[in-house]
Amino acid sequence: MTMMMTTSSTASSAVGNNSIACTHKTRNVVSSRSSIKTQQHQQRKAISMSRKATKTLTRRSQTRRGASVVVYASQDDGFKVAVLGAAGGIGQSLSLLLKMNPMISELALYDVGQIVKGVAVDLSHCNTASTVNGFCGNEELGEALKGCDLVIIPAGVPRKPGMTRDDLFSINAGIVRDLTQGVADHCPNAVVAIISNPVNSTVPIACEVMKQNGKFDKRKILGVTTLDIVRSDEFVSTLKGLDVNDVDVPVIGGHAGITILPLLSQTFPQTSFSEKETEDLTIRIQNAGTEVVEAKAGGGSATLSMAYAAARMGEAILRGLSGESDVYECSYVSSDIVPDMPFFATKCKLGKEGVEEVSPIGDITAYEQEWLDKLKPELKAQIDKGISFIADAPQKI
Ligand SMILES: NC(=O)c1ccc[n+]([C@@H]2O[C@H](COP(=O)([O-])OP(=O)(O)OC[C@H]3O[C@@H](n4cnc5c(N)ncnc54)[C@H](O)[C@@H]3O)[C@@H](O)[C@H]2O)c1
Repeated sequence: MTMMMTTSSTASSAVGNNSIACTHKTRNVVSSRSSIKTQQHQQRKAISMSRKATKTLTRRSQTRRGASVVVYASQDDGFKVAVLGAAGGIGQSLSLLLKMNPMISELALYDVGQIVKGVAVDLSHCNTASTVNGFCGNEELGEALKGCDLVIIPAGVPRKPGMTRDDLFSINAGIVRDLTQGVADHCPNAVVAIISNPVNSTVPIACEVMKQNGKFDKRKILGVTTLDIVRSDEFVSTLKGLDVNDVDVPVIGGHAGITILPLLSQTFPQTSFSEKETEDLTIRIQNAGTEVVEAKAGGGSATLSMAYAAARMGEAILRGLSGESDVYECSYVSSDIVPDMPFFATKCKLGKEGVEEVSPIGDITAYEQEWLDKLKPELKAQIDKGISFIADAPQKI
């Protein structure tokens, strides 16, 4: 059993009420007030206290503003989480953040690159509560996945300048197909969070693989779009001089180009934007990934901000699995929220089985409706491409 206690002057917001251990915005206040040493001491103390505590996860005295104390006590021996593609740019940083999460007792790092074993040894020297093991190659995939509660997949090639996410399809589609087959074989009840692009197609691919195996549960497969929300919150708070810890912008649709639709009209706290601000922000959020790809000039795409976003999503999923009742994140999932669109990103309630509820889009402006109309055919084509890939391409494993 693990337990974490932390204090914060701002608690989680209704959407994105996330709290990456030691990193997320709800804990930033802690970071700024106490030294890392103090945090580590508190964490060790909390973990030792947890041995005497009850089995159920509880979350106490949470308010949007004002002092709060959050107490986590997860399952007996915490969660097992696997990162597939753990030796990569996202995988390594994400694994580090997950190593700092006291809800996790076991981390399995898997990659086709042999270096993953060294990454696991390196990380295992951090004095946090979880154990870390490295697994390399298909013959070790089963061992990595066995008993997993959550599988996060950043495996695959990233973009280079001039590429769209769809250009990655020919390589990444097969990688996600084969890794999902591993999930179906070794941990079919795990929640699977897919980072590998093009997310608009790789999530349908994963769902089709699970269907072929008779193990599909739409609550368990999620596309990670959290970076779009992280970026939106950051850009809006900077533009408007707001406290970034308070800002929350829902982002719906998909995760590529114009399929990314920030709902600025639903920004929390309520914020007004001029027409030009709305246009500039919408386009910047849609192209933010490309901004990074161009700045890295051939060295890959977003890794650090992506790892941060995935750790936030991972923790939200684990909090839901633990039975916490108020966990919401936007995510790209199988749903019937938008007619003729079998997959769509919108606000999801996370619970004991994964995605418990998918929220409707809500009221949107005429400008947002225009984008929504524009994105639908593009998103639908990318969904169909993923679905027909599985119909046409037999599994490797
Ligand atoms: N969802 C998002 O918001 C988002 C944001 C940024 C990047 N991405 C995507 O994440 C993916 C990874 O990006 P990166 O920068 O970490 O790339 P990277 O090249 O640095 O790392 C990818 C890792 O995957 C591993 N890999 C390849 N095939 C594998 C397989 N079959 N099984 C296990 N591991 C395998 C590689 O060995 C490598 O270590 C890319 O597809 C990228 O487009 C998604």
